[in-house]
Amino acid sequence: MMSKPLLPFVALAIFLAPPAASAANLMRGQQIYQMHCAACHGLRGEGIAPEAPKFRLGERLEQPDMMLLQSVKTGKKTMPPFFGILKDPEILDVLGYVRTLR
Ligand code: HEC
Repeated sequence: MMSKPLLPFVALAIFLAPPAASAANLMRGQQIYQMHCAACHGLRGEGIAPEAPKFRLGERLEQPDMMLLQSVKTGKKTMPPFFGILKDPEILDVLGYVRTLR
């Protein structure tokens, strides 16, 4: 049995915890990926556009999400910037999905 005074803190911790890649997040990430990214990166991360990393092979995914987030926001070489098109949490959902393509 949990002692009573602890409960509000536990509830708060759960509330504040960054949402783990839930099924809903992954589904949203997949939808955004198919709409905005798959044309170049491939539906299965096979890489279609010249020089587009093959996520299926884990290319570039050794970097933390926060670095990849920046690249997606600012754009890189022929990749257009997604700043103003996608919100940070949306890009993070896409990155979560991209990591499932390996
Ligand atoms: C017009 C084609 C194109 C589109 C659309 C595109 N990308 Fe890219 N992306 C590229 C190319 C090309 C590179 C490689 C850039 C380089 O050589 O550094 C890249 C690189 C990346 C990288 C690696 C960045 C790094 O720092 O190494 C990530 C992550 C990424 N794209 C994610 C996405 C996501 C997520 C989307 C959709 C929201 C997207 N891309 C849409 C072409 C595209």
